[in-house]
Order: sequence, then C-alpha cells, then structure tokens
Amino acid sequence: MRNRVEVMHGVNLDQLGARDPVIYGGQTLTELEVRVKRFAHDLGLEPTFSQTNHEGEFCEALHEARETADGLILNPGAWTHYSYAIRDALEVCGLPAVEVHISEVDTREEWRRRSVIRDLCVGRVQGKGIDGYREALEILRAELGGGS
Ligand code: DQA
Repeated sequence: MRNRVEVMHGVNLDQLGARDPVIYGGQTLTELEVRVKRFAHDLGLEPTFSQTNHEGEFCEALHEARETADGLILNPGAWTHYSYAIRDALEVCGLPAVEVHISEVDTREEWRRRSVIRDLCVGRVQGKGIDGYREALEILRAELGGGS
C-alpha cells in the first residue's frame, strides 16, 4: 500500500493554542501533530507535517509533495475559502487529498462556507476537532488501497 501522507497546515494554524479555544480547542499545533502522528501510525500510514503562513510556500509544498507523498491531508485555514493559487497547485499535484477543518465551517460565517478546493478532494471533514484528522486519514487510507 502507498502509505506516505503529508499533513499540511496553512495560514494561522501555527497559532492554535492562542486562537479561540471554544472554536478550535486549546491544543497547540505541535500537540495536534503528535496526536495525528499516532492516528496515522495506528492506520499503518507514515505522516510528515508542514505549516506555513505564506501562500506561495504552500503552493511549492504541493508541487514538491508529488515526489514525496502518496496522499494529502489539507487544512489550508482561511485560504480554503478563496485561494485559486492553492486550488491550481493542488490540481497540478494530482495526489488524493482530504480537506479537514477543526471547526464546523458550514455553520460559521457565510464566507467560510465556500471551499475552492472541495471538488478536488476525495473527502471533507469538519467540526470534529483533532478527531476529524483520524476520520480524514481513514478516508485517505481507503483511497490509497488500504481498505476502510
Ligand atoms: C479552519 C477554518 C477556517 O475558516 C479558518 O480560517 C482557519 C481554520 C479550521 O480548521 O476550522 O484558520 O480551517
């Protein structure tokens, strides 16, 4: 089975822990990554992690992921809602990707309900906090041929 998964976080997700804990929980990004790493290993997946606050860097990471990963877990933060550059980069990348949001974006402000990457992704999980990443990894694993 192809099992290399790149877990990519975008703008402001390095600020978890300082962001509203009612919406995002109190954990830091490092704490989140430790848990997601455990979920991934439980599922037989090999995760790598990245975060950037720079849109171009996120695009470059998508370009490079073609060579280094078999699938993607993406939480691009606010870029989700408007970045056609990231959408185009994801299309070029061509890897199966699952979109994840810690909060339930569809029940928040109107502008968060739109995702410009949604139709390029094989799945979408929102509003389940860190546990949502486990669900996303399960979707990706099935997509990569690992069963459900
Ligand atoms: C987020 C939701 C986005 O709307 C927001 O801009 C974020 C985080 C989430 O994980 O819930 O930065 O992607």
